[in-house]
Amino acid sequence: MIQENIDITHRHTFGIATEAKAWADYNSVDELRQLLQEAKERDLTFMPIGEGSNLLFVRRYDGLLLHSTIKTLNVTPTDNNEILVQAGSGWIWDDFVAHCVSQGWYGVENLSYIPGTVGASAVQNVGAYGVEACDVIDSISLLATDTLKECTIKASECNYGYRTSLFKTDWKGMYIVTAVTFRLSLNPRYTLDYGNLRSVVGDTPTLSSVREAVIKIRQQKLPEPNELGSAGSFFVNPVIAREHYNKLLEKYPNMPHYDVDTDRVKIPAAWLIDHLEWKGKSLGGAMVYPQQPLVIVNTGNARAGHVVQLAQDIAFSVFENFGIIITPEVNYIH
Ligand code: EPU
Repeated sequence: MIQENIDITHRHTFGIATEAKAWADYNSVDELRQLLQEAKERDLTFMPIGEGSNLLFVRRYDGLLLHSTIKTLNVTPTDNNEILVQAGSGWIWDDFVAHCVSQGWYGVENLSYIPGTVGASAVQNVGAYGVEACDVIDSISLLATDTLKECTIKASECNYGYRTSLFKTDWKGMYIVTAVTFRLSLNPRYTLDYGNLRSVVGDTPTLSSVREAVIKIRQQKLPEPNELGSAGSFFVNPVIAREHYNKLLEKYPNMPHYDVDTDRVKIPAAWLIDHLEWKGKSLGGAMVYPQQPLVIVNTGNARAGHVVQLAQDIAFSVFENFGIIITPEVNYIH
């Protein structure tokens, strides 16, 4: 099952030329268990990979990449017009969203067209247009990497926050997601208050019109991964103290913000980067995407070093000008 010395240039969305020592697809929890057993016997490091849409391979990956192709789907009705939909981790995220929309299941339509897989959505807590994966995740099915036992964890136990979960912090490397159970509604329920979504959708929303509007907005702002390599938003939007924000507001009265709570404010990194005129600037084969400066693209022959250097230069200038530290959303894989 394990393929050795694999070219993974097109197995991650940045499309930066690189290799992995080993790669394996698995189609069931049992196959995953066997692979983990073999990795242990061979003393191979390993890492799960979905579509590779949030990864920057800094060099050749000297371990085993584990790629789920589990595409099961189990639907359980509940008694309050909701359903529990358990989807295998290998579903392409947007295929899953399209399926939910076609079945009349409400909850994930705002998350249309996000690159990645169902498994990764639960780790990363993907979000867009006012909805986050954790709003609709009920529980996560996992395989523990040390005991090789299966377990299920409720979403409420995962410390979900903006683009984060315990899977990325305290539990890093401890589990591999094998399926995610979503709690979806059979009754119409829309979230349309983010940005210009409501005006793009129009007066009579339907599940498909919301999905189409989200796809339209994303296509205008974000590069198509198969045309121009990238990992979506390169940085997370920084959350700063309200005092800091109030000071900046004196100098930048038009600076947009989202209130997080009474003490904290989230600032769009896109605005900070745009304000410092980074759009379209490049370093080697890496470029700040002109339509959305939060995205760094591979113009064709980028090396990881170009991307890292450009990201550091951007972060440095944001810090010097605003005193704000912006951190990558993208995972650097060494
Ligand atoms: N802006 C500018 N100049 C620009 C673009 C944006 O000043 O060229 C400012 C505008 O004020 C705009 C604000 O930045 O209102 C925010 O932009 P946008 O609504 O496009 O959202 P974002 O903060 O850039 C986040 C997510 C996206 C998600 C959108 C929509 C993060 C890191 N990114 O982007 O997620 O699609 O909101 O919900 O939170 C991703 O994670 O890969 C991703 C694309």
